[in-house]
Amino acid sequence: MKVLLSADAIAARVRTLGAQIARDHRARAGEDEELVLVCVLKGAFVFAADLARALDVPLRVEFLGVQSYGEATASSGDVRLTLDLGHSIAGKHVLLVEDIVDTGLTLSYLLGMLRARGPASLTTCALLDKPSRRRVEGGADHVGFAIGDVFVVGYGLDHAGLYRNLPYIGVLEA
Ligand code: IMP
Repeated sequence: MKVLLSADAIAARVRTLGAQIARDHRARAGEDEELVLVCVLKGAFVFAADLARALDVPLRVEFLGVQSYGEATASSGDVRLTLDLGHSIAGKHVLLVEDIVDTGLTLSYLLGMLRARGPASLTTCALLDKPSRRRVEGGADHVGFAIGDVFVVGYGLDHAGLYRNLPYIGVLEA
C-alpha cells in the first residue's frame, strides 16, 4: 500500500476545515444556531467523526446510507438510498459530509433529495475530490484534498468492503 495522505496530514486538514465551517456557519446562521451534520455512510464515517470534533458549534449528527458501487471501482451512476435520516431537516442548517466526490453523481443525487426537504441552508464538505473524473457539474463547498485519478482506500474508504480501518489514505497497488 502506498501512503498518499498520512494520518497527521489528514488530522491537520480536518482541524482547518472544522474551523472554517464553524466560522461560516456562525456568519450565516448566528452564534447559537444548531448545525446538523449529515454523515453519508459508509465511506464518510471516520471523517465525519473527526470533523464533528473539530466543529465548535451546537451540533446534531444524522446518517444517510447510500450505495453506488457494489464491488466495482467505477461508479455505476446508480445511487441507492439504504438508510434515511432519523429526523426532519426542514428549517435546519445542514452540513452534508461525504468521503469523496468522484463522478459527482452521488453528491448531486443527495443534494436534490435534501434540498427538497426545505433546509434553512445546505452546505457540503468532502474530504477528497477527484475533479478529473467529474460527470456532472459541481463539487463540494469545502474540500479537504484534491487528488488525481487514483483509487484510494483507508480512513473510511473501502475496496470491496475492506481497508476502511486504515488510519491513513493509501493507493492500492496491483
Ligand atoms: P461518485 O458518485 O462517483 O462521485 O462517487 C461517490 C462514491 O464512490 C464515494 O462516496 C465513495 O464512496 C466511492 N468512491 C469514489 N472514488 C473512490 C475511491 O477512490 N476509493 C473508494 N471509494 C471511492
